[in-house]
Amino acid sequence: MPSDSDTRALGRTGIRVLPLGIGTNKWRGADPAAVRETYRTVMATGPCMIDTAEVYRSERVVGDCLRADPGPAIIATKFAPLPGRTSSRRLMRGLEASLARLGVRTIDLYYVHFPLPWVDVRVFGDGLIEAVKSGKARAVGVANFSADQMRRIADHLAKAGIPLAANQVNYSLLKRKPETNGVLDACRELDVALVAYFPLASGHLTQQSDRDRTRALLALLAEIARAHDASISEVALNWLVARDPHVIPIPGATKPHHAKTILTALGWHLSEAEFDAIDRASANRQ
Ligand SMILES: NC(=O)c1ccc[n+]([C@@H]2O[C@H](COP(=O)([O-])OP(=O)(O)OC[C@H]3O[C@@H](n4cnc5c(N)ncnc54)[C@H](OP(=O)(O)O)[C@@H]3O)[C@@H](O)[C@H]2O)c1
Repeated sequence: MPSDSDTRALGRTGIRVLPLGIGTNKWRGADPAAVRETYRTVMATGPCMIDTAEVYRSERVVGDCLRADPGPAIIATKFAPLPGRTSSRRLMRGLEASLARLGVRTIDLYYVHFPLPWVDVRVFGDGLIEAVKSGKARAVGVANFSADQMRRIADHLAKAGIPLAANQVNYSLLKRKPETNGVLDACRELDVALVAYFPLASGHLTQQSDRDRTRALLALLAEIARAHDASISEVALNWLVARDPHVIPIPGATKPHHAKTILTALGWHLSEAEFDAIDRASANRQ
């Protein structure tokens, strides 16, 4: 069983997860045997967050993995607030359908997938409160919310005694906007996890490239990777994990050897000089 120092807090929910989760938006359509082995590889490491969403259509695949071996998985899924789906009732119906596809009675973390600018965040806040009070969600979060939207929904949830667990946003060495748009600051201040999606920039941070925009950064990552007998992707994930204890990247993987490499990133640390050099080489990437 991993100790507290091997895991990260999911905000103030009391739930602890490995500092790296796994994204499943490509699990539907991928080789089923490879996906099952990817899941088993991840579960052997500890309480890894498995990230899905109703719109990824991968909940049934995740459910099949869970039925074969529940392991210590922490499962997160998301409600898509598409136009016409903007009430607590619709959110609860979405949650119940996700639970059925996953084959579980309670989800560990239920997100609102994105904000709708013309709908008050408190409408979704009410749905999330009901999700927790009904016992169908252990914790609740948001995705793609601005710092201001996040503060408003956190405030609304707090009135019902429920902490906002996470804001899931696009964050990587090629997309550092959360550091400048107030989201990382709000996560620190409110003690909310910043779950980083596209942490490998959809695969662009996994191998060297001749593209002008990324060549120098990738060459540096490769040099640091060689010094640690590691891969470029491990260095890129290592940097995010070291950036702040609130950050939990969720790289996507459909292949067991990719999952293994990803999780090896948890076994070593960048030096301060290496961290700073990467910081400088990737600065101003929005
Ligand atoms: N909340 C949102 O709005 C939102 C939006 C988009 C995504 N997400 C979440 O974020 C997750 C991650 O997104 P993503 O998968 O598109 O992007 P990503 O994590 O930046 O990149 C994943 C890509 O890198 C490859 N990869 C992984 N480990 C590797 C390794 N060790 N060596 C070489 N290549 C490696 C994967 O290949 P293989 O698949 O071949 O293993 C995949 O093609 C999604 O699964 C989803 O859960 C959330």
